[in-house]
Amino acid sequence: MARIIVLETRSSAIHGRSRKGVATMESGARLVGVVMIMLGVMMWGGPLVAGAGVAPLPKGATIVWSHAPYGMGECGICHVRDDPADPGPITTQNVTELCFGCHEELQDAMAKSRYSHAAVEDSCTNCHNPHNSAYKKLLIAEPPSLCAQCHQDIWDEATKAPVQHRAVRDGKSCLNCHSPHASNVDSLLLDLPYNLCVTCHGKDGVKDEQGKTLTNIAALLASNPVIHGPVADKDCSACHTPHGGKYFRLLTTEYPATFYSPFDPKSYALCFTCHNSEIVAVERTTTLTGFRDGNRNLHYVHVNKKERGRTCRACHEVHAAPQPHLIRNGVPYGKSGWILKINYTPLPNGGRCEKTCHGAFTYDRTKGTASGGSS
Ligand code: HEC
Ligand code: HEC
Ligand code: HEC
Ligand code: HEC
Ligand code: HEC
Ligand code: HEC
Ligand code: HEC
Ligand code: HEC
Ligand code: HEC
Repeated sequence: MARIIVLETRSSAIHGRSRKGVATMESGARLVGVVMIMLGVMMWGGPLVAGAGVAPLPKGATIVWSHAPYGMGECGICHVRDDPADPGPITTQNVTELCFGCHEELQDAMAKSRYSHAAVEDSCTNCHNPHNSAYKKLLIAEPPSLCAQCHQDIWDEATKAPVQHRAVRDGKSCLNCHSPHASNVDSLLLDLPYNLCVTCHGKDGVKDEQGKTLTNIAALLASNPVIHGPVADKDCSACHTPHGGKYFRLLTTEYPATFYSPFDPKSYALCFTCHNSEIVAVERTTTLTGFRDGNRNLHYVHVNKKERGRTCRACHEVHAAPQPHLIRNGVPYGKSGWILKINYTPLPNGGRCEKTCHGAFTYDRTKGTASGGSS
């Protein structure tokens, strides 16, 4: 009970502070301090549940790590007295300053970083026990539960969303991608998003929850000359959400999951956040798309159907492709994974595909040929 009060007080104080800015920081820290001392006094003599985050662990607890200055019994380095039985309060209200007294390397790293974590600026004891701990690095809990104490929303997203991402739970969890203290990359990322993603998605054999092997994205990009704009910018977050989400393949918004789909512009919201939906919406055009035969819009012909409209993946590979306009050589068709070859050839005024869904078909923007099979 007491521990919960402490945590709530801390996280609400700290969140309030970060919204209101630095001005209220001092009062917030003092409030936390006062609550800690009150609870410490209330619980003194009993099992040290209150203030468990920062008080030395009670006798009998599993201790994995002891902080050097505490282990040496030198309470007076941080407290007003050197007496282990009654060390009194700490010498300063500013815990961070106390810690930086010895941890200059972190102080320097924080000063040099463009972004720092509000939780660290507030107090090291938000995450570390300055005495000893059951967890490595003197943590009061380990990620992800440590982080979830203040970022419950992210943890809910990661564990309750219809599409989840094992990256958040595997290995070092949140620390697969984030620094706990500070970083030069936005959102406290350890590296640029692309570099983080390919630490895992640059390997063969990563499988999704259904057991389907996922494309090795780094290999795909290295072996294909035509790279999609946002992928060339290494901006994986332009289309994917990292923690978990509502949409197929962790996409930021709607995109059909299947080869065929009834046409509805909403189901292509992802593509149409950056591309003009008119390229598929209108039947006749001489300007909106290059994929037309004369004025017959072939995007409309293929995609815009009440049933069995072909989705963009029938012709485009969204990350990188061997052919101009992100056209793929072949596309997996049906459950067996059989590859339907597209055999696309770009031509000066259009292009041609052969032996695909239909016989050879050439489109010509200047004339209109309507050669070959129908769609
Ligand atoms: C590296 C610094 C450091 C050392 C060394 C240290 N402490 Fe602390 N201690 C702290 C901090 C920081 C707090 C949290 C105080 C706060 O937030 O107001 C704390 C809190 C406590 C508390 C919780 C009760 C309270 O006042 O809130 C106890 C009990 C305690 N320390 C005992 C000890 C004893 C005993 C020693 C020596 C054997 C010791 N500490 C050595 C930093 C230290
Ligand atoms: C938001 C939680 C959080 C706060 C606040 C925090 N730390 Fe940490 N700290 C961590 C985590 C998590 C690790 C373990 C990193 C790892 O295992 O890669 C860590 C590791 C460390 C280490 C070990 C060296 C390292 O980088 O692995 C030191 C030293 C350290 N912290 C000092 C501090 C000091 C001093 C403060 C206050 C200025 C502080 N921390 C505030 C979460 C925090
Ligand atoms: C009197 C100097 C001193 C002060 C003050 C001090 N530390 Fe340390 N700390 C050390 C030493 C020494 C080590 C061990 C370094 C090593 O092994 O490389 C250490 C290690 C750590 C580690 C890493 C433990 C690990 O498993 O690697 C953390 C986290 C840490 N300190 C947090 C804190 C926090 C939080 C404070 C402030 C409450 C603090 N320290 C204040 C001297 C200090
Ligand atoms: C004591 C509360 C607390 C804990 C514990 C905590 N955070 Fe935070 N974190 C905050 C606050 C406050 C912010 C500022 C944003 C806000 O107001 O929500 C923040 C911001 C962030 C941001 C966004 C930074 C930005 O620039 O947008 C990331 C990423 C983050 N935290 C990751 C973590 C990770 C990873 C852990 C666990 C190692 C963790 N946090 C633990 C309180 C906390
Ligand atoms: C696979 C890498 C990855 C993992 C693992 C990860 N994150 Fe993130 N996180 C990101 C990226 C990328 C962003 C930036 C998102 C953006 O810019 O749209 C981010 C943003 C954030 C933010 C700030 C923006 C927001 O969405 O509120 C917080 C807070 C955060 N992460 C916390 C966490 C916590 C807590 C965990 C562990 C439970 C975690 N993250 C695990 C990659 C990751
Ligand atoms: C620590 C390793 C790791 C990192 C880092 C990582 N991923 Fe993943 N990712 C996985 C694993 C394992 C799977 C398969 C299991 C699953 O779906 O959760 C996966 C699945 C995916 C999927 C398919 C999800 C589905 O089930 O449909 C997408 C999309 C994805 N990751 C994108 C990203 C992006 C974008 C980044 C960078 C922000 C990233 N990943 C970083 C390990 C990682
Ligand atoms: C322009 C939007 C966009 C960008 C940017 C993007 N993706 Fe994707 N990604 C998608 C779409 C759409 C799918 C679903 C493709 C399909 O099933 O046809 C997908 C699927 C995936 C998958 C699952 C692959 C599989 O084999 O089914 C992974 C993994 C993935 N993306 C990782 C990444 C990484 C890593 C980056 C950054 C290099 C990235 N994506 C950038 C749109 C994007
Ligand atoms: C975040 C913005 C963004 C999203 C989302 C996006 N694209 Fe793109 N797309 C671009 C940019 C930028 C280009 C490069 C434009 C250029 O070079 O003229 C591009 C180019 C293309 C091209 C090649 C154009 C050419 O003629 O060379 C195709 C095909 C394409 N996108 C298809 C898609 C599909 C399919 C989706 C949805 C799965 C999608 N895009 C989602 C930004 C985006
Ligand atoms: C039947 C195959 C096919 C399908 C399905 C398809 N495209 Fe295309 N798309 C093409 C071809 C071929 C081109 C190149 C046209 C040219 O310039 O010769 C193209 C070009 C594009 C371009 C470049 C601009 C333009 O219109 O010329 C974009 C953007 C694009 N497609 C997006 C999409 C989106 C989004 C979808 C799904 C809603 C989609 N395509 C579905 C074949 C297809």
